[in-house]
Amino acid sequence: MTMRLVATRVLLEPLAVAHAEELVGVLADPALYAVTGGEPPSLDRLRERYRAQLAGPAEPGERWHNWVVRLRDGDSTGPAIGYVQATVTGHGRVAELAWVVGVPWQGNGYAAEAAAATAEALRADGVTELQAHVAPGHAASEAVARRVGLRPTGRLDSDGEQLWRSP
Ligand SMILES: CC(C)(COP(=O)(O)OP(=O)(O)OC[C@H]1O[C@@H](n2cnc3c(N)ncnc32)[C@H](O)[C@@H]1OP(=O)(O)O)[C@@H](O)C(=O)NCCC(=O)NCCS
Repeated sequence: MTMRLVATRVLLEPLAVAHAEELVGVLADPALYAVTGGEPPSLDRLRERYRAQLAGPAEPGERWHNWVVRLRDGDSTGPAIGYVQATVTGHGRVAELAWVVGVPWQGNGYAAEAAAATAEALRADGVTELQAHVAPGHAASEAVARRVGLRPTGRLDSDGEQLWRSP
């Protein structure tokens, strides 16, 4: 089960299909896809994607966690600003992370805070190895990976992204 996580300035809500209405605007800026590729999804595409993500993996022994990242200020909550994903494999011990924060909110440490909260929750749930694939030279994403304790391995995947891993 994906838990709701509360950090200092953001909270992470388990994804629901209804989040598509809020996220479609966050994900509409083409600048978000400059490094990773892809394009802004339509509302229908996003709903479809979220249904598939909530249905979970076909692969037995694999688990998916999807969180929407929302700003918080004390007891009040603000807009959804992005998402964090974790794919758990290796008998629950390995988690691959991915993060996206919408352009207007970038550069405020929100991705680092959200990823750190995710990493902590996953570790509490038995994960011992965290990973991420990051495009070489994507400074913001590399910095987020570093902030959650990951280090570059020098291994590139078929998309040319480098594997980062917890030591
Ligand atoms: C990568 C991304 C999630 C970072 O989000 P963010 O909320 O702006 O990141 P943060 O503000 O938490 O910054 C984290 C670190 O990156 C650094 N950083 C942020 N923007 C930067 C930039 N443009 N260039 C260099 N470093 C940058 C910050 O200084 C911070 O470093 P520090 O921890 O050493 O101080 C966001 O840029 C994004 O969604 N990009 C598009 C999608 C994407 O490529 N996702 C990655 C897939 S793995």
